[in-house]
Amino acid sequence: MQPLEGKKIVLGISGGIAAYKCAELTRRLSERGAQVKVVMTRAAKEFITPLTMQAVSGHPVAESLLDPAAEASMGHIEIAKWADLVLLAPATADLIARMAAGMGNDLLSTFVLATDAPVAVSPAMNQQMYSNIATQENIATLRRRGMLIWGPASGEQACGDIGAGRMLEPMQLVDLCISHFQPKILQGKKIAITAGPTQEAIDPVRFISNHSSGKMGFALADQAAKLGAEVTLISGPVNLPTPSNVKRIDVLSAQQMHQAAVEQATEHDIFIGCAAVADYRAAEVAEQKMKKVAGTDELVIRMVKNPDIIATVASLSENRPFTVGFAAETQDVERYAMDKLTRKKLDLICANDVSQTGIGFNSNDNVVSLYWANGQQHFSLASKQTLAKNILEQINELTQ
Ligand code: C5P
Repeated sequence: MQPLEGKKIVLGISGGIAAYKCAELTRRLSERGAQVKVVMTRAAKEFITPLTMQAVSGHPVAESLLDPAAEASMGHIEIAKWADLVLLAPATADLIARMAAGMGNDLLSTFVLATDAPVAVSPAMNQQMYSNIATQENIATLRRRGMLIWGPASGEQACGDIGAGRMLEPMQLVDLCISHFQPKILQGKKIAITAGPTQEAIDPVRFISNHSSGKMGFALADQAAKLGAEVTLISGPVNLPTPSNVKRIDVLSAQQMHQAAVEQATEHDIFIGCAAVADYRAAEVAEQKMKKVAGTDELVIRMVKNPDIIATVASLSENRPFTVGFAAETQDVERYAMDKLTRKKLDLICANDVSQTGIGFNSNDNVVSLYWANGQQHFSLASKQTLAKNILEQINELTQ
């Protein structure tokens, strides 16, 4: 089943240059099963034509409050009642101001007043207009009244400025619509997740690390937040943006990650150790950059064991969270995973075979098998986002 199957979305377009992306947005929403009806302001029609929006949505476009023909087919009050979600994208400073003032001086603003569906606002404007105190206060007003504020993004703007005010990309808006309709099965749950590699310094400029990209841990954090959980992400050094609605704690070494995890664990209901923690660190970190030594071709670095973060968490005697580990194996996946489950006293282990090319480390896809004391579940090749959701659904079942 498509993620937006049967969902009725009204796309309200106001007059900003990002309106040109609305055809794409509508297509992507429809592809995922949504029915989309479009309402446009007069200024929006300067940026994208009603004919285009009618063609991509498959429905006539509502443009004017005082159009007898449009009102006769489906009046604006009827469309307001029809909607499961109203998405205002792009929402200009002017539209936001008029909504904050409760005005109904055109079809779109009247429609917003008349609907009891959730309204998501995707601001899009020049960065100076966005940071203007009037706009900021108007957005705060809409947020306080329960409207969802999606974006804006930062970056280069059509006018040449750089800053916050870009409309979110169509696919980001589609994802937000999908997560809006998702049942919030983890509402009220607090989840801490470790992700990424650790860096173990050997001198001020060098370290030992591994190939973990952090993608699986970040996908778990993203999906957990979308399922309604309160998420703390303890991340090693990675090159990934923080998912929306996730609190992020950055660390470098295994010892730092251990400290952060121990501090956080008892505050959370669920702890997921997804990080690829270095097993060993240099026994002594050189104070100055190490120099090549003349007369020898060898360098010996003595290593000592790092603390096992997840085993520490799983052994907590008070306020112990439900503890989930990961096992990346190159052979005998089930046997090694089961061994880790019992040895580290975990409640659940997610195992994957990293000897297979194209999955696991650094890739966007993975294959995962879950094992727990009296059950197992296998998930075949899928995106890390999909698998993250599957894993979280299983965790939810096991923690009921
Ligand atoms: O023993 P191994 O590293 O294969 O176990 C993997 C699991 O243990 C992962 O969940 C990883 O995050 C966790 N781990 C840890 N602290 C370590 C080593 C691994 O939390 N020092």
